Amino acid sequence: MRPIELRALAELHDGLADEVGTWSSIAITNENSTLAESVAHALSANGCNVQISNSPEALTQQLIVCTALGGGNVIDMHWQALSHAQAFRRAGGKSLILLQDTGGNFAGGPSHGWHGGMAALARTAALEWPDMSVRCIDIAVEPEDVVGTTSRLMKAYAQNTPLSGVDLSGRVCAMHTGELLRQPLHSSSQAETTANDVWIVSGGARGVTAACIEALAQRTGGRFALLGRSVPAEWPSGIELSDDIKELRRLLAARALANGERPVPKDIERIARQALAGQEIRNTVASLEAAGASVRYYPCDISSQQQVNNVVAQIHNELGQITAMVHGAGVLADSNLIDKTREQLDRVFDTKVGGLNNLLVALEGARLSHIALFSSAAAFYGNTGQGDYAMANEVLNRIAQSLQQRLPEATVKSFNWGPWESGMVDQTLARYFKERGIGLIPVDQGAALFADEMLAGAGRGVELLVGDSWADTSAH
Ligand SMILES: NC(=O)c1ccc[n+]([C@@H]2O[C@H](COP(=O)([O-])OP(=O)(O)OC[C@H]3O[C@@H](n4cnc5c(N)ncnc54)[C@H](OP(=O)(O)O)[C@@H]3O)[C@@H](O)[C@H]2O)c1
Repeated sequence: MRPIELRALAELHDGLADEVGTWSSIAITNENSTLAESVAHALSANGCNVQISNSPEALTQQLIVCTALGGGNVIDMHWQALSHAQAFRRAGGKSLILLQDTGGNFAGGPSHGWHGGMAALARTAALEWPDMSVRCIDIAVEPEDVVGTTSRLMKAYAQNTPLSGVDLSGRVCAMHTGELLRQPLHSSSQAETTANDVWIVSGGARGVTAACIEALAQRTGGRFALLGRSVPAEWPSGIELSDDIKELRRLLAARALANGERPVPKDIERIARQALAGQEIRNTVASLEAAGASVRYYPCDISSQQQVNNVVAQIHNELGQITAMVHGAGVLADSNLIDKTREQLDRVFDTKVGGLNNLLVALEGARLSHIALFSSAAAFYGNTGQGDYAMANEVLNRIAQSLQQRLPEATVKSFNWGPWESGMVDQTLARYFKERGIGLIPVDQGAALFADEMLAGAGRGVELLVGDSWADTSAH
């Protein structure tokens, strides 16, 4: 590598010298050492002190994180990038740049989107650390052309905008221009007939995914395989049906006392939660059947490849070849980025990202005509306390783009839902959003929009942002 060449490349880009000149010392992490060296040459040619290190010196002002360019396990990679960010924050760093390669245009890229959570990490870090400059650069990396890749990276670097990319042709790409639609909560598309479809739906027996599937089944009928971890428990004998957990706890404690037993709070909590989950699953199955659909519920933890493979084989035998997939399973493990633990990130990623991977592996060879991924507005805007959840949902967005490229005939949608009046939005979260002027999505309207979009066919945008804008609020 001849530095002179790189210097010439670096000088081509307006604004580069200004941007580099802002920082007296820059560190680049070394997960992609060839590119890191090349970038270090280009930056130091502009008079900056640059080191390549995964543990930069304490006084480093700017850190360029290459983790997402290094390959490897998807969850490890996102954790590593977050760890770099945490360490740099603790050391008092001023400027954080997260690199990724989803094609330089925030689409699928060589990892097919699996390494694409950096924009959401950048957005969340910018909200949680407002005194730090945080950026994400999406860059098309060509391993055989380090000089060209460095040049594109320097071009994006010189943009000095929070999210910028440069694709292989050298085009500067902003994120989500025109692709991501804000959906009004009404729509009027015509339903296609999909009565013969077999839908596999992770998380489909409970929460907002169940409501969406019910709205869809009312239009189409069809066959639905609903997956969730819960094993549906019978309703406790002698207790009136209720969907109020407080009331149920009270009734279970009263029953124990009446039977001469001492109520144990942890047992009561477990029985109450299992009973409510079982009832919710039975209610979903009953409503789908009432809509004319065939339905089966399969207890399955989608973070286990083996369990998913077994269930997919069972569905083929019992309902037929799977033709459509909805990935609605998700969990939260909220805490601020600086306190975020590997265990929390694993929980969120194992279900959202690992679960999607397991489903796609088990469905390899299936001819999918419809794919819906349940992402979140937290990915699009970032969200305080939800850095891992925002990243995982952003990965879903990138994978949706990649799937649509691979399956151009299929309807592929990633729904970036705002908060609903239901599901994982508990009273605390509901208050948080309401206080910030963000309305909750009414269940019937959100579900109808889902059915409309899934039946409207391809070509109406892959990434959809649903609900009130968070842009002008302090909801972040
Ligand atoms: N509600 C909202 O406001 C909102 C906003 C934005 C995005 N979303 C997204 O929409 C989806 C549904 O959310 P929700 O509010 O309905 O949440 P929810 O009420 O907590 O339901 C989550 C569903 O996922 C299932 N699940 C979780 N982990 C699983 C695993 N490892 N394997 C199989 N199933 C699993 C749960 O069933 P078991 O407990 O039985 O496993 C349940 O059916 C999520 O992906 C969420 O990120 C929701």
